[in-house]
Amino acid sequence: MRRLRGRLIQPLLREQVLQKTDLVAPLFVDQTAHSQRPIASMPGQYRYPPGDVGKICQGLWDAGIRAVLLFGIPNEKDALASGAYDQEGVVQQAIRSVRKAVPGMVIITDVCACEYTDHGHCGIMGETRCGPDLLNDLSLDLMDRIAVSHALSGADIVAPSCMLDGVVQSIRQALDQEGYSDVAIMSYSTKFASALYGPFREAADSGFQFGDRTTYQVHPGNAREAIMESMLDLDEGADILMVKPAGFYLDILAEIRTLGIPVAAYQVSGEYAMIKAAAEKGWIREKDVVMESLTCIKRAGADLIITYFAHDVAGWLDEEQ
Ligand code: PBG
Ligand code: ZN
Repeated sequence: MRRLRGRLIQPLLREQVLQKTDLVAPLFVDQTAHSQRPIASMPGQYRYPPGDVGKICQGLWDAGIRAVLLFGIPNEKDALASGAYDQEGVVQQAIRSVRKAVPGMVIITDVCACEYTDHGHCGIMGETRCGPDLLNDLSLDLMDRIAVSHALSGADIVAPSCMLDGVVQSIRQALDQEGYSDVAIMSYSTKFASALYGPFREAADSGFQFGDRTTYQVHPGNAREAIMESMLDLDEGADILMVKPAGFYLDILAEIRTLGIPVAAYQVSGEYAMIKAAAEKGWIREKDVVMESLTCIKRAGADLIITYFAHDVAGWLDEEQ
């Protein structure tokens, strides 16, 4: 084997090479912020005021990043997440300013309620046989409204992250009815109930006041259920599937890759924070670990990788050329 691993031949035979177009940069837009606010548990990441996102996206574009995923933190929250489908809401404003500043940027929006509900859950809550829980069918209408309002503001791809049964079909129908048959759906189709979302909940102010998300997200041990979740979303009309988190779930990613449509992997806030923290201590080399983690996510089958390292990676890829 070592004949082909010689220094001259080796680069010619590399199977997976990370490219800038593999990457999606998540961005937090905060309606209550007047200047950029650092996120303590995610060093290097910020919450941006809506007026800044155009400029931030210009920077990403100049670095070679071609897609962003927008999250919003609204002024006000309520039990029904009414801020989430407000045409003057934080994400709706952000979409318009990104489109204006960087017309070619692919704008993906997170479609969920947890940043907009006072209780912090991903939809409408109500009493069930097992106590208070997310009400599936009642929450679908809310997701339709959010997705349509994002489409109306100019989103290219909507990404429902609530893990409600039937949400992809419901949103597809709503978008088509309103004349947005060209807006794609990237479903967070296989989302695990992971402990790695901790920093995100600080970043997006979306931590729940009671309970947990285990009644709507998949248990980390359940592979069969995880694959079935993505198969159902494919049937319902998803254009892109997703596995989240990425690094611990590469076996699932490899299997979902075989379903036949593009698949995204989300390297989540906890994965980011772990790398950052160990690097800050000098225990690992940040760049090397990041490049390895992303290359392996690609090798497992991801067509797109959502990562908070996107901007850094774009810079590192330039250095290598
Ligand atoms: C909201 C949402 C979450 C993430 C993306 N969208 C958090 C959650 O489900 O609790 C996590 C992203 C990350 O940790 O980076 N539904
Ligand atoms: Zn949510």
